[in-house]
Amino acid sequence: MEHLVLGISGSPVPRSNTDRAVQTVLTATGLPTKFVKLSDYNLEPCRACLGCLETNTCVVADDGRELAEMFRAASAFVLGAFTPYSSLDARSKAFMERMYCLRHQTGLNRGKVGAAVITTACQPGAPQLPPAAETAGAQIAFWMMEEGITAVGTMVLLGNVPCIRCGHGDQCEMSGVRMLHGPDATVESVGVQTFGDDPASLTEAKALGQQIRVALGL
Ligand SMILES: Cc1cc2nc3c(=O)[nH]c(=O)nc-3n(C[C@H](O)[C@H](O)[C@H](O)COP(=O)(O)O)c2cc1C
Repeated sequence: MEHLVLGISGSPVPRSNTDRAVQTVLTATGLPTKFVKLSDYNLEPCRACLGCLETNTCVVADDGRELAEMFRAASAFVLGAFTPYSSLDARSKAFMERMYCLRHQTGLNRGKVGAAVITTACQPGAPQLPPAAETAGAQIAFWMMEEGITAVGTMVLLGNVPCIRCGHGDQCEMSGVRMLHGPDATVESVGVQTFGDDPASLTEAKALGQQIRVALGL
């Protein structure tokens, strides 16, 4: 069987940490791959109209149809999301909702192999912060479970609060730099997280690619 692994990034930031982590997972599979950045597509959330019930095709005439065709053609995928306001980003959520059209009667999502990359600015496990990565990870995991997708793993990647690069991160009263990293934190002391600088994340992304291969029986 000819496999295709689809990489989907919910991050709108050009060449973002999320993008690069997803692309590293794709490359590590050693299989034919396709990468899509959801911000390049026009994608509404599901309208819950059930117009897809008999046809497994969404009635919304946006790019969701093309994305559903790509998703259907892939035997495995990696979904890269980030965590605005401590939960799954809206584009990744809309993507998940729109794959609902493949579900009815035929269960076309069943048997697919799925992995997730979650980029977060909240240090996972920090007791004073909301569990952003855990929340987004659970959202993706429950979606996979409900669709009959085989989940092979989730990697969490530390990203950057946007205030790091806005130019006002040390002065702004609403700065996420101090909110996430403590009252004495500065843009300089926190620094910029770049995927690839941390060998552990690189290793984890490559391992996720290998896990996809194993789950595909390769
Ligand atoms: C509007 C907005 C709100 C955000 N809120 C949070 C948040 O509550 N918790 C968090 O961990 N990160 C938050 N972030 C930061 C993103 O998780 C961070 O930008 C992520 O690292 C993006 O990854 P990227 O480099 O792949 O684009 C927020 C980002 C935006 C744009």
